[in-house]
Amino acid sequence: MRKIIVTIDGYSSCGKSTLAKKLASKLHYKYIDSGAMYRAITLYFLRNRIDWNDQSAVDNAISNIELHFEVNADTKQSEIFLNGENVEYVIRDLVVAEKVSEVAAVKEVRTFAVAAQQKLGDAKGIVMDGRDIGTTVFPNAELKIFLQADPAIRVTRRFKELHEKNPAVTIEEVKHNLEMRDYIDSNREISPLRKADDAIILDNTDLSPEETLNKAYELVLTMK
Ligand code: C5P
Repeated sequence: MRKIIVTIDGYSSCGKSTLAKKLASKLHYKYIDSGAMYRAITLYFLRNRIDWNDQSAVDNAISNIELHFEVNADTKQSEIFLNGENVEYVIRDLVVAEKVSEVAAVKEVRTFAVAAQQKLGDAKGIVMDGRDIGTTVFPNAELKIFLQADPAIRVTRRFKELHEKNPAVTIEEVKHNLEMRDYIDSNREISPLRKADDAIILDNTDLSPEETLNKAYELVLTMK
């Protein structure tokens, strides 16, 4: 069967990563979480006190960043490494989530991340999720999905996820973070979050992860 590129874009916490992981596994494709790259870069900037409004500091910092993904032998999930350190879990923290959209709006950061993402898609057979994958990273992807879910559902889902790891997190903090990221992601100058003209909308407000997967899989079958 011909290998294709599947892009999954959408607002924060609408289930993109859950769907992308499941779909990649069902298709025996590679899964890449492009948001993890922006989060890892943000973590590096925060740890090293890089001012992302200072272009030369950003250029210099980026030249010291190496990102790659490895599949965890136990969980079979792809995890991100920043300069050799597995940061898959630490990048999910709200401290990173609070700043990631500001960092992701910086031109040099996007140029670096997009080039790395495009390289990962060279051999096709990839499912990548993010905000600009169907519009900028892979504008010629065979299948583009724009995932949607009701905002209240998105907040509840993300709160559950974060609260399990950190019981101090409040629903208001999570709601504020999602609204802020969606606003910055949709209004930034470079590659704002948009539905690609040829993307198919999939609304999973009333669907289980399994039902969402089945719908997406049906879409893949129509592409082959
Ligand atoms: O997908 P996730 O919520 O982990 O992404 C974190 C942040 O990274 C987003 O809020 C957005 O600011 C940025 N991002 C982006 N472009 C992508 C993926 C993520 O700007 N393709």
